[in-house]
Parts: sequence; C-alpha cells; structure tokens
Amino acid sequence: MTPTSFDPVARAFAPESIGTPVRLRGWVLRSRSSGGILFVVLRDRTGSVQVTGRRDALGDAAYDAAEHVQVEGAIEVEGTVANDPRAPGGREVRATRIGVVDAGQPFPIFADQTEEFRLDQRHLAIRSQDLAATFRMKARVLRALREFMEREDVLEITPPIISGNAAEGGSEAFTFDYFGRPGYLAQTAQLYLEAMLSPHERVYAITPSFRAEKSRTPRHLTEYTHLEVELAWCDLDGLLDFVERMFAFLCHDLAAHSAKDLELLGRPPAELAAISTPFPRMSYAAAIARLASQGFPVTWGSDLGSAEERALTIESKAPLFVTHYPRELKAFYMLQSANDPRTVEAADLLGPEGYGEIVGASCRETRIDRLEERLRAIGADPATYEWYFDLRRHGNVPHAGFGIGVERFLRWALRREHIRETTPFPRTPSRHTP
Ligand code: 4AD
Ligand code: MG
Repeated sequence: MTPTSFDPVARAFAPESIGTPVRLRGWVLRSRSSGGILFVVLRDRTGSVQVTGRRDALGDAAYDAAEHVQVEGAIEVEGTVANDPRAPGGREVRATRIGVVDAGQPFPIFADQTEEFRLDQRHLAIRSQDLAATFRMKARVLRALREFMEREDVLEITPPIISGNAAEGGSEAFTFDYFGRPGYLAQTAQLYLEAMLSPHERVYAITPSFRAEKSRTPRHLTEYTHLEVELAWCDLDGLLDFVERMFAFLCHDLAAHSAKDLELLGRPPAELAAISTPFPRMSYAAAIARLASQGFPVTWGSDLGSAEERALTIESKAPLFVTHYPRELKAFYMLQSANDPRTVEAADLLGPEGYGEIVGASCRETRIDRLEERLRAIGADPATYEWYFDLRRHGNVPHAGFGIGVERFLRWALRREHIRETTPFPRTPSRHTP
C-alpha cells in the first residue's frame, strides 16, 4: 500500500472523469440507505463526493458491512464516475466495491453542541470543514511568509525556546525548574535574532512564543506562532516600509491562492486583494487626541487597550500604524526617540475593521546605560542581560525588528471571532488539553 495507489476525491469532479473508473478512500461525512441503495458522502483531503452502492452490485455481506459504518468511519471505494444532478456538485461515484477500513464508533460531535464541549473534543472537532479550511490557510500564510523573506533576502534561523532570560520583562513569562535554576519559555526570539545580526544582517524566525497572561480575551493565547524579523542598518521608516510590504504580500498571496477557502470562511478574497501600501501612520499622541475627542478617558501615558485600538480602525479597511508610544508603556529594548525623550521609535500595526494589534515593531536601543535604566525600572536584574549588552560592545549598529502573531493575522484575515479558532489545539489560561 502506498499513499498514491488511490485517486484523490477531487478527481471525480474533473471534466474528463465521467464514465471512468476511480479508486477512492477516506472518511464518511454522512450516510443513509433507502430501497437497497446506500448513499455515502466520502471525504478526503481534496474534497467530498457522493458514493452510491446498490445491494445487488456490492453483494449482501459487503452492503451490510458498509451500511454499518459510522460518521467518520473509514472506507475504500472502487466505482465509476457519473453525472447526477441530485448529488452535491452534480457528480457521484457508482460503487462496484466498498471495503471497510474502520467502521468506527458513533461520532460524538454533531450540530448544536456547546463551544465548551467542542473544545473538550478538539482532537475530533478539528475534522470540521471550517477548521480544515482554516489550517490549510494557516499553512499558506507560513509558506507565503517564508517566500516573502526569501525575496527580501532575510535568513531563517532557529533560536532557542528555553532561556534563562525573560526577555519581554518578566511578569508574563512561564517559568520552570531548569535543573535547579529558573528557566523561561520564550516570549520572543528577538534577543537571539539580534545576536545573529552581525554575521547575517537580516534574519527571521518562526517559533512558538509563550505568554503567561491571564487575559481571557478573544485575541490572547498563552502559546502562539510568532514570526520575528530583525534588520541591521534599519530605522523606523525603513522598518514600517518592510512590515507593510510583507502584510500586503500576505494578503495578495491568500487572495490569489486560497480564494475557495477564504470564501468558505466568510472573507471575500477581493477584500484582501484590495489591501494596498502605504498604510496610514499616526503618532500615539495623535491617537490619544482622537480617542479623547471621541469620549475615551485617555491622556498622554494611557495604554491603548482593545477598546481603544478597536475604535481607531473600526471604520477602516486599511491597517493603521500607531507610532512613538511613551517609553514607559513599551519593552526595555526600544530606542528612545532623539527628538522626544518621552517616546520610543516603535509602532504597532493595528488590523483593519477594529481587530487591534497584529504587529509590534521597534528600533532597538543601542546604549547600554539606557537599557540598564529601563531594566531596573521594570524590576529586572541587568546582570542577567550581560550577554545581550556584549552585542552593544562589539560592532554596535542601528537595527530594528518586529514580531507578527500569525494567529492574530489569521483572526483578522479569516474574520474569526476568537483567536482560538486559528490554532488547532488552543492554549488559554483555562485550557491546555487536549
Ligand atoms: O508586541 P510583542 O509583545 O513584541 C515582541 O514580542 C517583540 N519582541 C517582537 C519583536 O520585535 N521581535 O508581540 C509581537 C506580536 C504582537 O503584535 C501580537 O501579534 C502577537 O505577537 N502576540 C500575541 N498573539 C497571541 N496571543 C498573545 N498572548 C500574544 N501576545 C503577542
Ligand atoms: Mg505589542
């Protein structure tokens, strides 16, 4: 048996397949029998097709066995492709043989069950048409990101996930016992990307990142897929140009290659195709002024939460960069602005239609005393960052980078309500199984 000794279900729908024999195998989406004819909808990774089997063609024993296959049971089919206007998609396969691979037990998932139950049954629920389409899209996003990085001559590297530093500050890192010393699960690969800049100048990594935040919001996971990029000789304008090129490339790639899945999931491909650069850029100060004029209780120094971020783009079909946040609101490694010491050379990219932060970007602070000052301010011990300061002692050059949450991007691109719908086995404060 080899994976290629059978035909894909999609072959049944090729124009030239009418009247030709096919061999299919897959899982039963649904089935029923009436008057000595069995109707099975068979699914494989390429689609689904109706299979009909007559008792007189299959033989009593085989017919009875096939009739007892449950939803999600597995079968093999040999038959001939025929046009049938009553069948979904106008085609059916008239079986000459149906072999049972696994009759299966009654499938526990069906319509109108609670979301909680479906999450408990996630290992089975991921077979749904929507989730299958979602994870095909996710694969396409990862592929497009890698293609973009290759075009931009950015090198993929493999940073560690286990670290002795809690890079984004400390409070939100998962800690564990690393042979008697504190270990942290990576919140970001950034510091390691920075270390690899000198030999490679342009690097990226796609890794799981971990956040021990108890935020029960529709946009937070405790484990997510993080694409991070670090570019030497780069300022904020150059960085934001890169981010918007990448974002538009992704949207156009999905519109061009995944139109069917996008439509299935409720995002018209034309809306992604219409994303165009440059994206509007607004300073944090201007954002605060705008929010205040809309009645938000914000002043300079206020953090922008989901409600504020939502208000900034809810009416817009374009992503929005918010730049130059107050230094205190942002990570210790961000470069203090030359013309305003209160701000950093940083930007968040907010998704269109009120989806909020999708990308976090900044120029990196190159002065060790400023790094130490900010580390102390957040209660971290600068001594544990000595190796990071070494990067500023040996060929210290201006550089910048960003991180994009792949699930955050997908949540917007696929118009999902909750970010957990964009990852097969979501990790949230209340759930780490199945
Ligand atoms: O803004 P963040 O925290 O930035 C960093 O980690 C930087 N070190 C990245 C860098 O410059 N190399 O995270 C980057 C992105 C966010 O914009 C968001 O899309 C995503 O990661 N993200 C999350 N996604 C899902 N669940 C969470 N809890 C997330 N926290 C951040
Ligand atoms: Mg951020």
